[in-house]
Amino acid sequence: PPGFRDDIESILIPEARLQARLSELAAEVDRDYAGRDLLLVGVLKGAIFVMADLARRLTLSTAMDFMAVSSYGASTSSSGVVRILKDLDTEIEGRDVLIIEDIVDSGLTLDYLTKNLRSRRPASVEILSLLTKPSRREVDLPVKYVGFEVPDVFVVGYGLDFAERYRSLRDIVTLRPEVYGS
Ligand code: PRP
Ligand code: MN
Ligand code: MG
Repeated sequence: PPGFRDDIESILIPEARLQARLSELAAEVDRDYAGRDLLLVGVLKGAIFVMADLARRLTLSTAMDFMAVSSYGASTSSSGVVRILKDLDTEIEGRDVLIIEDIVDSGLTLDYLTKNLRSRRPASVEILSLLTKPSRREVDLPVKYVGFEVPDVFVVGYGLDFAERYRSLRDIVTLRPEVYGS
């Protein structure tokens, strides 16, 4: 019977490339934060696999926490409305914070989140995102670590969803147009 994998149109970034890039990023983070007390903050839900695979490649001992910030809902484009659905469990004053994301699109989610976290007086706040879509940026947002720049096409997999589905795919893929029902 047809399954959700049949909805895939093309593979944009295959698993092997993605994992190789995560190894490079982990090496950079290890070097940049050597001797520091790093807190990784994953942005639920999209960042779960980046968080899991990146954190396990670090030689640094890190703490992990998560926030849930929703801006998309079931739509394929950003509404710009940011809501905190789940806050950090830990205080971050004086700590080095690295936000882990799957994708920076308009930048509105992380613009809000970094401002919010900076108000808590951490030692530093930086961003690591597996993907970035520079052509869609609506705010100036410095992203310290970027895995791949992608064109303005809707992509899913490796944490990225369409209406909560396709996150479990190991590759970054595009979907057949009929999947969107348009
Ligand atoms: C997606 C993605 C980023 C954000 C990027 O999350 O995972 O967090 O949107 O969009 P922006 O740069 O335009 O703000 P989403 O709100 O879909 O939640 P999810 O991670 O649970 O899928
Ligand atoms: Mn997200
Ligand atoms: Mg989403």
